[in-house]
Formats: sequence, structure tokens, C-alpha cells
Amino acid sequence: MSEAFGAFMQLYSGLPREGPGTIDSLLNVLEIADTPPLGRVLDAACGTGADSKILSRALPNVELIGVDKQAEFIEAAKARGLRADFRVGDMLWVEGDFDLIWCAGAVYFFGVETVLEAWRGHLRPGGKVAFSEVVWREQASAEAKAFWAEAYPAMDSQNGLNARIESCGFKVLSAEPLGRAGWEAYYNALRANIARLKGQNPVMDEVIAETEAEIAVYDAHFGEYDYVVYLVEPV
Ligand SMILES: C[S@@+](CC[C@H](N)C(=O)[O-])C[C@H]1O[C@@H](n2cnc3c(N)ncnc32)[C@H](O)[C@@H]1O
Repeated sequence: MSEAFGAFMQLYSGLPREGPGTIDSLLNVLEIADTPPLGRVLDAACGTGADSKILSRALPNVELIGVDKQAEFIEAAKARGLRADFRVGDMLWVEGDFDLIWCAGAVYFFGVETVLEAWRGHLRPGGKVAFSEVVWREQASAEAKAFWAEAYPAMDSQNGLNARIESCGFKVLSAEPLGRAGWEAYYNALRANIARLKGQNPVMDEVIAETEAEIAVYDAHFGEYDYVVYLVEPV
């Protein structure tokens, strides 16, 4: 493990979740998706299992599988003691079929076209995909545009993303903005880690500076962009 990656993992460990999200946004998706009752559910890029915990409580009878490429995150997910099967693996190369594939904060690694194409063949009849994806919401400031042009150049508007989902042959069943609470839950825990780890060594401080830049843009410009939580199904 490189020194920078080690510092990154230290900064991002012990968080309640590894990206923005809320319990309610996931439960809202389940209200629509859990009819008829779900049998097999995948938490793709589950991180340390924050949403697997919600899924396992809300859906006590499902077979729940969590996959993430980071072994350290999977170990932390397993340590939660949930009724779920956690595996190290690639979210695009999943095995078996599912009634619901849930993916919080990780579609951007590949783009919506790639993930929907990869998962289409792993959906049972009536199966659905739910994911959160960050989108532009309002006229954006130069500062926010400059930051995200580096961090996520492919970031789209919600209308643009809707159109791309439809051209993949999927229908949008719901698309709800996550809102400030979902970002605060994540950033407040990160802020606490930053306060604890800052000043330890130059490598850690460099990793912290990148995260602080992201949070500073959020503090100044939240509202210009947000995550949207999508529920989609093949047409
Ligand atoms: C922003 S975090 C979100 C984690 C979790 N869903 C949550 O909300 O707490 C993104 C996650 O994607 C995982 N990831 C990135 N690329 C992946 C891949 N190809 N296969 C599986 N996991 C991946 C990372 O390890 C990380 O845990």
C-alpha cells in the first residue's frame, strides 16, 4: 500500500458511511421497490456496509449480498455482524441475479451507461436498480465548476442524466434529491477525522487538503449540486 493510499484509508476509516446518504432516502426507494417482496438484493460498492445495515433491518427476509473492492471496507462491514454476505469484488462483475441492485455513491466511477449495461443481465423479472449520483442542480458558480471539472468532469444535470438513463433502455421510477442532511452526515464525521489526524505528517496533510477543498466547495456552494437518488427499471 502506498503511503498516500494508507493515509487516505486512515482518513476515511471509522466513518458511519463512506459517502453522502440518509436512511430515509433508502427507505423511500424500498417503499416503491419492495412490491412484490424482494428476495435477493445486492449492495454494490457497499463500503463499510452503512446501507447494508439499513437494508438488512428493513428487509429481514432478503438474501443480502454486499460487494466492495476494498478488503479493509469489507472487513469493517463484516464486523457490523449483519445478516449479510460481504465479499471483496468488482461491482461490475457481479454473480447471480437480483430483485434490487442498490449502489450509493459509486456509479460515477464508471458512468451510468456502463453500470446499467453490466447489471441489466443480473436483474430478475421485475428487478430494479437504485443508485445515487451527483448532478448539477442550479446555475453553478465558477468555483464549484472548477472544482468538479477536476473531481468529476462527467458530472451531468438531472435532465441530462434522466435522458441518458432512458437511452440505456431504463425507465426512471423515482428521482429524489438527497438534500443537505445526507452530505452533513458524511462530512461532519470526516471533519472530526481531519481534526484528529491533521499535522501528523506531510502525506496525511496532503490527503486532508484535498478533502478540505471538497468540503469548502460544499460549504460555499451546496444547492448548485446535489446527489439524486434514482430508482430505475428496464423498459
Ligand atoms: C463513496 S464510497 C460509497 C460506499 C458506500 N456505498 C456508502 O455509501 O457508504 C464508494 C465505494 O465504491 C467502492 N468502489 C470503487 N470502485 C469499485 C469497484 N470497481 N468495485 C467495487 N467497489 C468499488 C470504494 O471502495 C468505496 O467503498
